[in-house]
Amino acid sequence: MKSHIQSLLEQTLESFKQQGIVPADFEARIQVDRTKDKSHGDLATNLAMMLTKVAGKNPRELAQLIIDTLPTSAYVAKVEIAGPGFINFFINDSALADQLQNAVNDEHLGIKLPTPQTVVVDYSSPNLAKEMHVGHLRSTIIGDSVVRALEFLGHKVIRQNHVGDWGTQFGMLLAYMEELRAKNGEEAQLELSDLENFYRAAKLRFDESAEFATRARQLVVELQSGDEYCNKLWREFNDISLSHCHEVYARLGVSLTRADVHGESAYNADLEQVVKDLDAQGLLTESNGAKVVFQEAFRNKEGEPLPVIIQKADGGYLYATSDLAAMRYRSNVLKADRVLYFVDLRQALHFQQVFSLAKLAKFVREDMSLEHLGFGTMNGEDGRPFKTRSGGVVKLVDLLEEANVRALELVRSKNPDMDENTLAEIARVVGISAVKYADLSKNRTSDYIFSFEQMLSFEGNTAPYLLYAYTRVAGIFKRVTDLDLSQARIVLEHEKEKDLGNKLAQFGEILSRVVDKGQPHVLCAYLYELAGAFSSFYEACPVLAADNDAQKNSRLLLAQLTARTLQKGLNLLGIETLERM
Ligand code: ARG
Repeated sequence: MKSHIQSLLEQTLESFKQQGIVPADFEARIQVDRTKDKSHGDLATNLAMMLTKVAGKNPRELAQLIIDTLPTSAYVAKVEIAGPGFINFFINDSALADQLQNAVNDEHLGIKLPTPQTVVVDYSSPNLAKEMHVGHLRSTIIGDSVVRALEFLGHKVIRQNHVGDWGTQFGMLLAYMEELRAKNGEEAQLELSDLENFYRAAKLRFDESAEFATRARQLVVELQSGDEYCNKLWREFNDISLSHCHEVYARLGVSLTRADVHGESAYNADLEQVVKDLDAQGLLTESNGAKVVFQEAFRNKEGEPLPVIIQKADGGYLYATSDLAAMRYRSNVLKADRVLYFVDLRQALHFQQVFSLAKLAKFVREDMSLEHLGFGTMNGEDGRPFKTRSGGVVKLVDLLEEANVRALELVRSKNPDMDENTLAEIARVVGISAVKYADLSKNRTSDYIFSFEQMLSFEGNTAPYLLYAYTRVAGIFKRVTDLDLSQARIVLEHEKEKDLGNKLAQFGEILSRVVDKGQPHVLCAYLYELAGAFSSFYEACPVLAADNDAQKNSRLLLAQLTARTLQKGLNLLGIETLERM
């Protein structure tokens, strides 16, 4: 509906240009918003205000001119000028009902699909030297939910798990692996089941023994020169580390597979060429023996130029170097239209620098959009970065386990007579959903406080609330026998039916925002409002006890559409629904 009004306004603006009311080269993004107050209609635009300057007319006068020029549409019942020159649109209820009727029989819930694009999504991307910790949670689940929404809208998505599987710390790990095997044979495998301890122990050896440190450095050199023995050790290590990640993904219900892993090491062979190409373009400068690039736009607080380091004095390459190679691959081989990076906001400067350098060096097509969709920090209840009681990093597996234990308690307290298997299954879904939803529902760019209590509450914008709301809507259909809605029509009469219908019709707009801006929290807020609109409808409008069959069937269709929208919306957030809880 919003995009329909938008297109009516675009046509109006076109006609203004032809008539010379505004200059022909005038470019503007026409904004149409949902109104907060129903007395102002359903949608409103500030277009008249936007045009005052270029048209040299006052906004109310312009608003009237817009209304007079607006193409007629069956969807628009009434248009009004408000305040200083806002234009309010009142949507025609029967046109709205038609739109919903359309959604009933459509697997995409009546959403108009955009032109498909190829979108590379770089997410999760943990460093394999250590175990996944809470810092990787946000990238993994926010990325996965945007991926799901993109695919639902028909885009071609290429997942890229840009894991950190290269670098000097691997020398230390391989040296330790070697040492353990010499000592304990195959039992060394066991030590790797806890990567966190393994890393710590390796680091300890590295710091205490000069001999060990020398061996570690030697192994890095051999690894980089392609030595078969080293590579085998390295592959074994990464394989184990990756299987830890995939255990977490499976538990979280994240759609990444092994085939999506395309880590830093995948670009090894290209790094020398990256340096050569930058050099050939005269972009490289020597700084303390290292090869760096200075770009005018990047300076520190003192106004000194900030470099991107491309190659260290000892010949080693850096994080930025593999990112440059990765961008080239994503542009030339994967042919991406957009590349989305779900990475901590603390890396913002890194991405600004490498994006701008990749364009400058023509490593990527000019029309490829590079987007760092950063996120804030997950803090503990004390407002500081989330840590264990003893101050260590919180492993993701432990966090999910605790969520599960708490969810089980919660579900049991609500259903004291339920059998253990059912309880366990419901608790599994509630626990994981609570963790995911708490994260997804926050604005991506803000820090947030991780609180089990808040996320497991049945009140407010939480997973338990929404899962429960879904079971209530779906529950209606358990009470009807031989349901046949094939001839049923949606009719919007009651105020609450209209409100619900209005909400349902917004699903498409919401999903565009989720994928355009990489903001799943918009979908969470929408689902919460939809559940609320359904509650108010259900209180005011009897469904099974409606006045007549036509009304009952119309209301059943509204309920069905609500159930499907809630379920689809939750699934796009990576959340399973339950039939009972
Ligand atoms: N491995 C990095 C980290 O843990 C994130 C990689 C993000 N992706 C990228 N293309 N740089 O911080």
